[in-house]
Amino acid sequence: MTRSTPRTALVTGAARGIGAAVARRLAADGLSVALVDLDEASCDSVVKEIHDAGGRALGCGVDVADESAVHAAIERIDSELGEPTVLVNNAGILRDNLLFKMSVEDWDAVMNVHLRGSFLMTRAVQEYMTTAGWGRIVNLSSTSALGNRGQANYAAAKAGIQGFTKTLAIELGKFGITANAIAPGFIETEMTMATAERVGVTFDDFKSAVTKQIPVGRGGLPDDIAHAVSFFVSEDAGYVSGQVLYVAGGPAA
Ligand code: NAI
Repeated sequence: MTRSTPRTALVTGAARGIGAAVARRLAADGLSVALVDLDEASCDSVVKEIHDAGGRALGCGVDVADESAVHAAIERIDSELGEPTVLVNNAGILRDNLLFKMSVEDWDAVMNVHLRGSFLMTRAVQEYMTTAGWGRIVNLSSTSALGNRGQANYAAAKAGIQGFTKTLAIELGKFGITANAIAPGFIETEMTMATAERVGVTFDDFKSAVTKQIPVGRGGLPDDIAHAVSFFVSEDAGYVSGQVLYVAGGPAA
């Protein structure tokens, strides 16, 4: 990879799980990284790890669904770290339930974080990207976009992310900006640990049941996703845009 220009990446939901692995990886790739999560202090340990490894990082407490907080955070990132021209929309929540038991609040909460949050972040950051004539947007979808029992809200949001991504690729391509989506299968994080707890099984039992269905015979790790993000963000990936990459240990679609 050739990287002559210093770049600043903004990663949402970066305090833990996939977002934390993406932040570490992009920092190791040489980018300055703004870690955005609900609570600034929750980003401290990953920020410290990046600093200790010689990288540049900044933690920001922001609810991605809050328009004014998003704008304030992006201005701070621009002045303290550099103009954000890489965006990874990763923040996410689950509010699983069968359709007949799903509340309007749980529907709205999932739509707000995944879709409204990605929209607000992308709309705010595209200005820096178009001015720079270069940008990379990576959005986290999921294999659940293909349909998953108990996840009408989440599946709709993750399918929506795919349409959003392809539209960004079409609208922003002429400014040197690419937009791609990564759709992970099962990844070992606190999100999947919470799912195991909700269905009343230990994480080990949950993992071994899921792993039986995965062709490569193991569960995914946050670094598996970080590696794919690193590729989409790389300087040489400028002709790859509007794609959905399933990172699921086998063919998911
Ligand atoms: P996680 O639950 O471990 O971490 C999510 C992070 O997002 C947390 O740090 C949380 O505080 C943050 N967050 C939630 N709402 C936010 C908001 N409104 N504003 C800012 N930050 C917020 O989740 P995980 O597993 O790391 O997932 C990351 C992304 O990958 C999510 O979009 C998820 O839907 C997606 N994904 C995860 C899979 C898995 O198996 N773990 C599979 C497919 C997709």
